[in-house]
Amino acid sequence: MNRNILCIGAGYVGGPTMAMIAKKCPDIRVTVVDINESRIAAWQSDQLPIYEPGLDEVVREARGHNLFFSTEIEKGIEENDIIFVSVNTPTKTFGRGAGRAADLQYWEKTARQILKHARSDKIVVEKSTLPVRTAAAMERILLSGQTGVRFDVLSNPEFLAEGTAIADLESPDRVLIGGRETPEGRAAVDVLADIYAHWVPREKILTTNVWSSELSKLTANAFLAQRVSSINSISALCEATEADVGEVARAIGADSRIGARFLNAGVGFGGSCFKKDILNLVYLCESYGLHECAAYWRQVVEMNEFQQERFVERMLRSMFNTIAGKRIALFGFAFKANTGDTRETPALSIARDLIEEQAEVVITDPKALDNARRDLAGCDQRITYEADPMRAAEGAHAIALITDWPEYAALDFEQVYGRMEKPAFVFDGRNYLDHTALFHIGFNVYSVGKAPLTHL
Ligand SMILES: NC(=O)c1ccc[n+]([C@@H]2O[C@H](COP(=O)([O-])OP(=O)(O)OC[C@H]3O[C@@H](n4cnc5c(N)ncnc54)[C@H](O)[C@@H]3O)[C@@H](O)[C@H]2O)c1
Repeated sequence: MNRNILCIGAGYVGGPTMAMIAKKCPDIRVTVVDINESRIAAWQSDQLPIYEPGLDEVVREARGHNLFFSTEIEKGIEENDIIFVSVNTPTKTFGRGAGRAADLQYWEKTARQILKHARSDKIVVEKSTLPVRTAAAMERILLSGQTGVRFDVLSNPEFLAEGTAIADLESPDRVLIGGRETPEGRAAVDVLADIYAHWVPREKILTTNVWSSELSKLTANAFLAQRVSSINSISALCEATEADVGEVARAIGADSRIGARFLNAGVGFGGSCFKKDILNLVYLCESYGLHECAAYWRQVVEMNEFQQERFVERMLRSMFNTIAGKRIALFGFAFKANTGDTRETPALSIARDLIEEQAEVVITDPKALDNARRDLAGCDQRITYEADPMRAAEGAHAIALITDWPEYAALDFEQVYGRMEKPAFVFDGRNYLDHTALFHIGFNVYSVGKAPLTHL
């Protein structure tokens, strides 16, 4: 068996992951395919379809040597022996499990396509995040063929975080590979482990059974999101008392059992994964009759929604209970810094709530303006888009910082203040700016989980 790799799905995961494998394994030919022609064309160009620090260099190094992008999916299936599947697995919007279960239609289509076009034995690797036991379902589809081709299905969930994907791929905390506990299953796991071992220390390559691997990915995202919701719930209590959530986070984070990371209060988590994966976990719990477990995890999502509603409510209350006709500048639309990704961004629900209150919203973001325009299509009368944050602040009553882009902390806020309507407000949804400095300039400053600094 040669060791050439195909990846089906050239998105935020498939593109960077395969680029890293190609870079680290010059002896392996890696082909990434997608049904989306314009996405593939972008991967072949100098304007990659996603923004990710360091990605351009990695792609440039390997592309054309041992990294290829193509729309020829069937040919790819025929020619490669290891097939990663990294297609999207959004939340189902229809039928049974709507709003919670994973929509597996893209996944199943891919399985059938692999079955139809495979002429030689394949190792099929689940890279997408999937409900527990999906690998078994894929195996059943693949083994339904009468072609004599052998398929081994592995689970290899991806733990990269957007914004730091390249660093995460270069030195992952761990690589997880789940496989069947049979001699063939173990042999397939070894093949994949050998690929990662080109650059990942062996002790960081964890192997488990398939279901543990699938469940570990959902659990990792649920735990991370839970920490965000936990500290955000405390931020609400801090605003009601005289506690400061930053001080509380520092005090509890110093406890080595708790740890300091993922304790930043703010407008809540976003991104394509956390909400979807928790809802998926909720659905799994429900389908096994574990209703208390389902309710427990559902609350993490509800707390996140509450936090976003609370943020807008606080804006409304502090701006004299009306924002109708007021210009409000949203600083940042991406769901976090260093990405242009706006899927499930808190900025979206906040922008919609502000429009509902008839505010005039101006959105600025260094990387996500095109996505913002697409997400808010249809709300155009009340929204403008402005690449330059200084111009976005022009004539604004308030700035709401939604994404902690470093360029916002570096702005000349004296100048920003000079351009705004008075009294001028800053609502720092990430507790990112220098609040005392802003207050001394003249701003009324509201942050999350802290007492406001106001001149009113
Ligand atoms: N984005 C992240 O940070 C992240 C991190 C870890 C895991 N994941 C998981 O990885 C998976 C992919 O996520 P993503 O963010 O890369 O999604 P994405 O939407 O950016 O990319 C998925 C790609 O798959 C393509 N596709 C869909 N059906 C196809 C088919 N039948 N044949 C060929 N291509 C097809 C789409 O055109 C799209 O380009 C999801 O399951 C997600 O949960 C995502």
